Amino acid sequence: MTFPPAEPGFALPLEWLRPWMSEQRWYANRGALPVLEEIGSLRMPSPGDATVIVHLLLDHTVGKPALYQVPLSYRRQALRVGWIGDLHGWQVHDAPHDPEFAQALLGAILEQRPLTGDRASGAGQLAGTDAASEPIVHSRVLSGEQSNTSIIYEGSGRPIIVKLFRALHHGENPDVELQTALAAAGSTAVPNPVGSIVATWSDRGRSDGRARGHLAFAQEYLPGSTDGWLVALAAAEAGIDFSTEARELGIATAGVHATLAATLPTRPATADDVAIAVAGMRARLERAIAEAPRLAACSPAITATFDRAEAALWPAQQRIHGDLHLGQVLAVPDRGWVIVDFEGEPLRAMNERSGLDSPLRDVAGMLRSFDYIAGSIAISGSSRDARDWADAARAAFTAGYGAASGRDLRSNGALVDAFELDKALYETVYEARNRPNWLPIPVGAIERLTT
Ligand SMILES: Nc1ncnc2c1ncn2[C@@H]1O[C@H](COP(=O)(O)OP(=O)(O)O)[C@@H](O)[C@H]1O
Ligand SMILES: [Mg+2]
Repeated sequence: MTFPPAEPGFALPLEWLRPWMSEQRWYANRGALPVLEEIGSLRMPSPGDATVIVHLLLDHTVGKPALYQVPLSYRRQALRVGWIGDLHGWQVHDAPHDPEFAQALLGAILEQRPLTGDRASGAGQLAGTDAASEPIVHSRVLSGEQSNTSIIYEGSGRPIIVKLFRALHHGENPDVELQTALAAAGSTAVPNPVGSIVATWSDRGRSDGRARGHLAFAQEYLPGSTDGWLVALAAAEAGIDFSTEARELGIATAGVHATLAATLPTRPATADDVAIAVAGMRARLERAIAEAPRLAACSPAITATFDRAEAALWPAQQRIHGDLHLGQVLAVPDRGWVIVDFEGEPLRAMNERSGLDSPLRDVAGMLRSFDYIAGSIAISGSSRDARDWADAARAAFTAGYGAASGRDLRSNGALVDAFELDKALYETVYEARNRPNWLPIPVGAIERLTT
């Protein structure tokens, strides 16, 4: 092993990084110590005296190994934020907090620079031709709970947000693919894409030994916007009716579905599509019962709903958002609802997330989200009961979606119920692993939906 990091042959001591990585919000197996293997790295051309390396780290802790992108910056002097620790006199930082990394990252995209490295290479690419480079005055990491890491850039030009995908996958990332397709079709329900970074790395699991996928996605940043979850929660806590907003959200969701159906592949739901979807639901039921055994009592009723759904008439399969909830929408002044984060559910395999699916999955996701508002108020110990608020919002969302899509959701009752139960079963597993004190929300919803 050689040090310093700028020299060829440098190897990051992975043992050293394990405790830090185990604590990161984006690490799927949080709390456990990762078992790491470095399969490659990329050098970010840095404008100053920091050495910036994007480490590609395979975690062998559970089942199928997961690949993470871990950009680190190495400096002689520690920065005030993002400092991880001292390594042989080098101060190592979580690079998104280092302005030199942030600048190099956006610069690579705007100037379409190639990135070289060890067993990996990459390049920035622009989404359109109008994204002229602009001076960056200030960058900061988005605060708050996030499963990826986003950097916001504000300067004299228009502000930009760059999302670093922490978990890497072969293939086009649906977040980039779908939002780029929507914006290209003229949709204003997503932020305008600016560009991305695509890389190739070695992958023993693929026949040609190489994988290629997105590392980062740059989009227009919408200042002054508020997270849909916070907007809805504030309304529910104050007892302010949310029907108008919920109806508009239903209309926006239907619009996104219509554009995705018009610009990307669709097909009538085949017997196979239905069988695969319902088999997925039944498998989730098993997993949820393993995490929350009291759900076994609801199992017959859930199974009956899944059986009814299997016999129902399904709408066409198409590309969908895949993880639609209030935390994935922004209330934007003078623009209305804007939808972000089309990456799909983090616990699902990427090939599943890039396939065609039922638009009713998104509808169910948003219905669950209104219920989560009421549930989170209930577990907060507040004296307010937001259940009626949630029911009104759910009805308004359904009406807005139905009117704009021409799809009568009430006549799809069994199907919507099945997708909603399916989502609540997914949430059960997610909460049991990540936020056990929130577990009563999906479990309570399943009990209500089945009685
Ligand atoms: N273009 C944008 N403008 C303003 N805020 C944004 C934008 N994109 C995302 N955000 C905010 O960042 C949060 C995280 O973004 P998201 O794409 O959902 O990342 P993650 O995959 O980590 O969940 C969003 O919930 C939203 O509040
Ligand atoms: Mg998100």
